[in-house]
Amino acid sequence: MGATQQYAIIDSETGKIDRRIFIDQAIYDEEMAKIFGRAWLMIGHESLVSKANDFFHTYMGEDPVILTRDSQGRLHALLNMCRHRGNRVVRCDDGNARHFMCTYHGWTYANDGTLEYVPGESEAYYNALDRPSLGLIEARVDTYAGIVFATWAADAPSLEAYLGDARWYLDTVFNRRDCGMQALGPMNGSSLSIGRRWWTTAPTTTTSLPAICPVSWSRAATLVARGSRMRTSSRARTSTSS
Ligand code: FES
Repeated sequence: MGATQQYAIIDSETGKIDRRIFIDQAIYDEEMAKIFGRAWLMIGHESLVSKANDFFHTYMGEDPVILTRDSQGRLHALLNMCRHRGNRVVRCDDGNARHFMCTYHGWTYANDGTLEYVPGESEAYYNALDRPSLGLIEARVDTYAGIVFATWAADAPSLEAYLGDARWYLDTVFNRRDCGMQALGPMNGSSLSIGRRWWTTAPTTTTSLPAICPVSWSRAATLVARGSRMRTSSRARTSTSS
């Protein structure tokens, strides 16, 4: 029996919500597994990794994730966990790098997640390591309106199908200007201006939007329209070219 079935979440007589849902560890764990472990999650904006080899550190639920743009321009969402003994391979918020080297024993990964170098591979492993299977664990990635989404579920529907009619609401915020939007770092939860407005209004205006509510932008940057005055902000660390 799921944690949420142990008691009525919503009292249909009064419309009241059982406040145990806010503190129940079992519900939290179930959310992490069934929602954050499977849903398409918003993990950033394309402009946060605008150049080849840019990367940006974020989270999918509790999982640390590196959003990268490889040298071919492709986006990747990589679990920030070395395949050797689980050490984090990236320890900063963002940057530009072709490789990530684990500081524990030196395993080195390309920014598309491929394991490229293992120190002492012949001496310690007798060249028997199956390196192609030991790359960083990668989530599925897709974008909509410049927003980068990722999911751990290999069998998840396409992002377009998942968003469905909710795309209209995203369009009203993120696609309302021809010049598009740009995210300005550094990451700061208190500066989530446009995102916060969307976050608070969306669930109250539609029943379809909860499908895209598992937002992972607690550490997001501020989003502004390209070409706005905020582009010149001293806080802007991303490219300001449009
Ligand atoms: S834990 Fe990363 S190289 Fe050993």
